[in-house]
Amino acid sequence: MRAERTSFLLVLGLLLTGMCIVHCLPENVMVKDQRRRVDGHTLASSNTDFAFSLYKQLALENPNKNVIFSPLSVSIALAFLSLGARGSTLTEILEGLKFNLTEIQEKEIHQGFQHLLQTLNKPSNELQLSVGNAMFVQEELELLDKFIEDARVLYASGAFLTNFRNPEAAKSLINEYVKNKTHGKIEELFKYLSPNTVLVLVNYIYFKAQWKTRFDPKHTQQAEFHVSKNKTVEVPMMTLGLETPYFQDEELGCTLVELTYTSNDSALLILPDEGKMQDLEAKLNPETLTRWRKSLQPRRIHELYLPKFSIKSDYVLNDILSQLGIKKIFASPDLSGIIETGDLVVSQVVHSAALDVDEEGTEGAAATGISMERTFLRITVRFDRPFLIAIVLKDTQSIIFLGKVTNPSQV
Ligand SMILES: *[C@@H]1O[C@H](CO)[C@@H](O)[C@H](O)[C@H]1NC(C)=O
Ligand SMILES: *[C@@H]1O[C@H](CO)[C@@H](O)[C@H](O)[C@H]1NC(C)=O
Ligand SMILES: *[C@@H]1O[C@H](CO)[C@@H](O)[C@H](O)[C@H]1NC(C)=O
Ligand SMILES: *[C@@H]1O[C@H](CO)[C@@H](O)[C@H](O)[C@H]1NC(C)=O
Repeated sequence: MRAERTSFLLVLGLLLTGMCIVHCLPENVMVKDQRRRVDGHTLASSNTDFAFSLYKQLALENPNKNVIFSPLSVSIALAFLSLGARGSTLTEILEGLKFNLTEIQEKEIHQGFQHLLQTLNKPSNELQLSVGNAMFVQEELELLDKFIEDARVLYASGAFLTNFRNPEAAKSLINEYVKNKTHGKIEELFKYLSPNTVLVLVNYIYFKAQWKTRFDPKHTQQAEFHVSKNKTVEVPMMTLGLETPYFQDEELGCTLVELTYTSNDSALLILPDEGKMQDLEAKLNPETLTRWRKSLQPRRIHELYLPKFSIKSDYVLNDILSQLGIKKIFASPDLSGIIETGDLVVSQVVHSAALDVDEEGTEGAAATGISMERTFLRITVRFDRPFLIAIVLKDTQSIIFLGKVTNPSQV
């Protein structure tokens, strides 16, 4: 089996979480009324749309590199931030997350995420999955009660008082928190934190699942992986024969294999025809995914070869989010839903993800961090040209001096 580039695998990580939403939500959610069902679908399709848009930007900016990220983690973190955004800052975030605000209201979006978090965190014997949020708050920053309450109820987020004046200690507090929640897989979400930071929002995801049909480690052998036309590397290649959903997509020029976990969640592996990776990447969109889901049919695959791999990525998403239309948060946002004065600005949106695929199954973890600083209204006035001066006595309002300074160097 040949692969054009290493990055064919990358789609897996992307879809892992993407698929889980598509899959788990409408089926496993205890839907009480029709209205909620519609919201679940809208949420999933917007999240998938955002996932592919973010993938395209990341792939474009990291040519010939492995790409792995959790679109769900980024979506949740930004939706969490949007709780505190107002006006065009709010609209920009929600539209950037691909929500169509004529079809879904802000409140429904938050409820959708609340429901999603509850669903994903339901204990299961077959799957380890945890998704959560937290915020780290500078000691004297007065968060609005409504924000604290909404963060707790809708995003299940607690708040940790933090002293960012000691940025090294604050950074290690946050990084240790994330490391713990991701079972040691994400060790350093923030590489840097400014001492001006006053608020950090964090989302984390941890996922571990076993293949329904495991690979036998005895059959794993070193084999060639074709990174490009003139570059080949040796990788541990797992192999297996099984019956599993399969689809040969003539239209897009790729082969799809869906591998199922014991939990019935699945990984979708997409192998573009030789030289067709870029064409395929350009055509990734929610409709493609829907078409694939409909077309996958169980087939006997006599020999499936899949490399065993561990990939990791760290990103600072500020520029990429700006390209996806989420710009204001980095420049002059209205975050008056977080603190009364609203004078906060996002300094960094960082994301780290790791994915391990082996004979047993898949372990993946990701985290997103959003750091914010105060934008103290810094007014500068420079008396560097002729000016007037009046000295007024407070009690009597008498002007005791009045003058004009045209040249301070003149004696
Ligand atoms: C949003 O939804 C409305 C109504 O369904 C539709 O007319 C409009 O084209 C949609 N906008 C976008 C950007 O998809
Ligand atoms: C995470 O923290 C909890 C509570 O302090 C602890 O019991 C657990 O062992 C930690 N897990 C990891 C992976 O460090
Ligand atoms: C592969 O070939 C291309 C053009 O033929 C060349 O530019 C590139 O440097 C080669 N890469 C390696 C790793 O040899
Ligand atoms: C997975 O699906 C199979 C077949 O539909 C079903 O028998 C099994 O109980 C499901 N397992 C879980 C963990 O939901």
